[in-house]
Amino acid sequence: MTKLFEKGTLGIIDVNNRVFMAPLTRSRANLDGTQHEMAIKYYSQRASAGLIIVEATQISPQGQGYLKTPGIYNTQHAEAWKKVTNAVHANGGKIVLQLWHVGRISHTSLLPEGKPPVAPSAIQATADTFTAKGVENASEPRALDIDEIKPIMDEYVQAAKLAMDAGFDGVEVHGANGYLLNQFISTNTNVRDDQYGGSIENRSRLLLEVVDAVSNEVGHNKVGVRLSPTSRFNDIHDEQIEETYSYIYSELGKRNLAYLHVIERSPEYETPDKDKDEDIVRKLRNGFSGNYIANGDYDKASASKVLEEGAFAVAFGRLFISNPDLAERLEKDAELLEPNHNTFYGGDEKGYSDYPTLAST
Ligand code: PHB
Repeated sequence: MTKLFEKGTLGIIDVNNRVFMAPLTRSRANLDGTQHEMAIKYYSQRASAGLIIVEATQISPQGQGYLKTPGIYNTQHAEAWKKVTNAVHANGGKIVLQLWHVGRISHTSLLPEGKPPVAPSAIQATADTFTAKGVENASEPRALDIDEIKPIMDEYVQAAKLAMDAGFDGVEVHGANGYLLNQFISTNTNVRDDQYGGSIENRSRLLLEVVDAVSNEVGHNKVGVRLSPTSRFNDIHDEQIEETYSYIYSELGKRNLAYLHVIERSPEYETPDKDKDEDIVRKLRNGFSGNYIANGDYDKASASKVLEEGAFAVAFGRLFISNPDLAERLEKDAELLEPNHNTFYGGDEKGYSDYPTLAST
């Protein structure tokens, strides 16, 4: 038996099953950040997921790090997203938006007036961005001044408000994958000597302040958080992973959020000590008091097992690219299609909204 297909309630979001769609950058938005019409079909095809977490969506022009990612900082953005949420709801699904600021993982050519990316400290990443010229290394960032931090928090709040206007069931604060909030948390990217740097409490401060500010706007039971404690993707590393994230999980646990969503491992970005990382991830998971969404290379068997161990749901990424009806396929032990890497980023309907459902084949 498996709990994968049981209904449940996440904060105040009722879900039909525990097969969630992870956020996936697909780089098909218009250049001004307005989501493309193609996304309506793409997401509504995937409405049988218990919950769709949409692709990372920048909260401001400065928060963008790749060409053609969607935004959520003006009413046009919200109106375009509204068509997506309406279509998903019409198909019986639930959908939340991921709030994103890339921090130092950006390129001057993508940013307002060609200015540098911003970061906790002026430390350049060895990491790819995607610009009009193709793949380019991230530009050298400048360190944020202390009085620039509150305005960024306000951008998160404004973006969350627009997400609610756009009909989303909630928002997910992106604290993972080496982007801005993760850059504040980690020791290799944050050497500040003010209240946002140094101690674990200080490095975690911005994440928690953003979570609190966004919760205040939309309600704590509609707010999720995504973290990736052990990942080194985007040149990120913390010297005290277990201590840092024990503190963060405990603080998030006190806040009665909708959920905590964790990238537990990534087959593409293996870390030097896999076994140790797996131990840390499990220990942290077992210590978390709220709804936990596990993500990272799960299949039906391992997903069922982690639900037995207390996780609320499992988020699947790559499998949702090529299997729009993944929940049904898993339930029926049907064949799973493999995604085509060449059409992950950019392009048209091909490799996006043309993967077949079981019903259509
Ligand atoms: C990406 O666009 O490559 C990307 C975006 C968000 C993530 C990870 C990767 O969390």
